[in-house]
Amino acid sequence: MSARVRAVVLAAGKGTRMKSARPKMLHRLCGRSLLWYVLRALADAGVDGVAIVTSGDIDERVWGLATDAGFAGAQTVRQEPQLGTGHAVQVALAALEPSEGTLLVINGDMPLIDADLIASVQRARDGNALAMVTARMPLPSSFGRVVRDGAHVRRIVEARDATDDELALDEMNAGLYAYDEAKLRAAIAELRNDNAQGEYYLTDTIGRLADRGERVVALDAGDYRAVLGVNDRVELAEAGRLINQRLCERHMRAGVTILDPATTYLEPDLEIAADVTVLPNTAIGGRSHIAAHSEIGPNSRLQNARIGQHATIADSVVVDSEIGDFALVGPWAHVRAGTEIGTGARIGNFVEIKASVVGPGVRAGHLTYLGDAEIGERANIGAGTITCNFDGEKKNRTTIGKDTFIGSNSSLVAPVAVGDGALTGAGAVVVRDVEPGERVAGNPAKPLRKKDPV
Ligand code: UD1
Ligand code: CA
Repeated sequence: MSARVRAVVLAAGKGTRMKSARPKMLHRLCGRSLLWYVLRALADAGVDGVAIVTSGDIDERVWGLATDAGFAGAQTVRQEPQLGTGHAVQVALAALEPSEGTLLVINGDMPLIDADLIASVQRARDGNALAMVTARMPLPSSFGRVVRDGAHVRRIVEARDATDDELALDEMNAGLYAYDEAKLRAAIAELRNDNAQGEYYLTDTIGRLADRGERVVALDAGDYRAVLGVNDRVELAEAGRLINQRLCERHMRAGVTILDPATTYLEPDLEIAADVTVLPNTAIGGRSHIAAHSEIGPNSRLQNARIGQHATIADSVVVDSEIGDFALVGPWAHVRAGTEIGTGARIGNFVEIKASVVGPGVRAGHLTYLGDAEIGERANIGAGTITCNFDGEKKNRTTIGKDTFIGSNSSLVAPVAVGDGALTGAGAVVVRDVEPGERVAGNPAKPLRKKDPV
């Protein structure tokens, strides 16, 4: 069995360039926090344990997102005050039991990093004091510059401390390091803060290791976009765009038709079957699952939605709900949390449904509110039907039997039940239960005689 691989994730920086009351690591892109992406990449690279350096009062939120990313029970280490990346690693090392072998250190603000690069830098460390990822990047850049001594790295100079000659170097420090832990521990103790920012720079460990004749090797990231850091909201938007593009490409390669990736907004961890079509201006998030041959969009938003096969969702919103095979939702429907729509049901324009079970083959075509309701198969819900589920104090349930006909503009005042095969006339205000097969109309609704028109 291979040794346990540990990583220190630097996530305590003030993030001043975000100009935000929210900690930088908790800013979101494609439905996840900035920090989540680095943690997910570490988990995918087979890292066994992480120590996340944090500041302020964000531990609980960090545990939540770490668990979601694949590290249940992640260790957090508080860094107060934040005196730089070198100081952050000092604080982490003080909290970690010393161990032999490699220790990964990674900036928490590089959400485009992928697992393969993390695995590669670990391998590149073998026999060296440090392997670090670097990237060629267009100038100007605020990244630390890599000063080489032939094949090896001699030191890193931060952009703010660099001479003009150093600023002209286009090989940058990415912020992902695989250290020999014992050598890191020795070098980190010697850091000083005599630089432009008055901070303890982790990057100074590199010059110190080289001074002692230790070997520091660079691993080229290839495409520099994979190591972009997020420091302000412009970079946040750019990173979000690149992640979204990657997600769209992954699904398209797996057989999903996406008409316009530029206006399709996806999140990680979606399950979209081959031969699903996604039309423009559509956002699909949370743990949504879409089965084959369904069509989603245009202008739609799905959040934690489970969509069956051959379903159509057009110009509509579906949140925390399930839509059955062959069902048709929209245009302009709003399916709210806790709803199940049965096979082949048709939910049309301006229909809002909340916490309801809608049976197979039900038709609710126009201008309707169904809340806390159970609707039997093949019921026909006329235009303007309202389940009056709120009595001013609490929510009450409505039950509508199968094969019922609910006339246009019926108000069903809950709690109330309409039996199988029953009918309500147009404009009925139903305040009492309706027996199976019974026909009622009026306000308040009363049984009709056989010859009464409906
Ligand atoms: C850092 C590197 C730079 C590299 C760049 C790559 C240093 C000194 N510089 O610069 O060489 O090119 O990343 O993106 O390391 N953090 C803490 N505690 C602190 C300060 C920072 O945990 O006291 C965390 C931040 O939350 C962030 C990471 O460390 O995730 C990097 O800090 P940041 O201030 O963004 O460093 P850069 O200026 O980007
Ligand atoms: Ca940064």
